[in-house]
Amino acid sequence: MEIIEILREVSNRIYENVKDLAGTENAGGDFGRGAGGDISRNIDIIAEKTVIDFLKEIDFPCIILGEECGRIELSNEPKGYVIMDAIDGSANAVRGVPFFCSSLAFAKENKLSSITDGVITNLSNGDMYWASKNKGSFLNSQEIHVNCEKPIYKIVGVNVSGASKELMEKLYPILENHNHIRHFGANALEMALFSRGLLDIYIDLRKKIRIQDIAAGYLIVKEAGGLLLDEKLEPLDADLSYDTRVSFIAAANEKILQEIMSEIN
Ligand code: IPD
Ligand code: CA
Repeated sequence: MEIIEILREVSNRIYENVKDLAGTENAGGDFGRGAGGDISRNIDIIAEKTVIDFLKEIDFPCIILGEECGRIELSNEPKGYVIMDAIDGSANAVRGVPFFCSSLAFAKENKLSSITDGVITNLSNGDMYWASKNKGSFLNSQEIHVNCEKPIYKIVGVNVSGASKELMEKLYPILENHNHIRHFGANALEMALFSRGLLDIYIDLRKKIRIQDIAAGYLIVKEAGGLLLDEKLEPLDADLSYDTRVSFIAAANEKILQEIMSEIN
């Protein structure tokens, strides 16, 4: 089984296992803090278990880096890392807001830039976004691209959840100048929407996002033709450690990147 097929199959299994759970009393609960630092909820645990069980069932030699379960070595001779945020947008999932997803990526080495495969599945409708290195990005069976046209409405994604006052002051001109600012609450799925051209730029400069939240999006954005940069406007890269937190900008092209960056205080 190709790695991308493994990630796609297990994403379908997550969808089957959690699709009726979101917004119900059973979605929540408190299972203590996971490896990523947030409280693990029942829906997170069920989704992660689906992945761990499947990878064990097929005997896939890898190291799992899960947001809740932490590092699990399934083999002494691993082919690489499965980077898993089994539920991205947990708050939405628990409350029943239909915007949450699973994010699974495979990396050969301990670096974002060594990711070869990524899958983000919208768990409220089953839509699957996926990419393998140098093979393009897809939504289900259709190839997707970032938006290259002048949009009718320019949509600017900005993650300001838990942003500091200092960051809000920096971002203020963007918020003031653009009438269609969006943040939906699941970074991975926002990167997927960006990749299919529904947002023109997506900015998260909080230095809070974990590797698990962006690993699959990293490849899907790039394979869809997007620019993916860090806060210094260098190509985004980072190691896969649990302590790593990044800022990033995904932009459809240089023009919108320059326009938005020139507005930052
Ligand atoms: C969260 C989402 C959200 C972002 C948070 C993340 P989680 O992931 O990606 O958009 O603002 O910083 O923690 O916790 O739901 O997996
Ligand atoms: Ca999560």
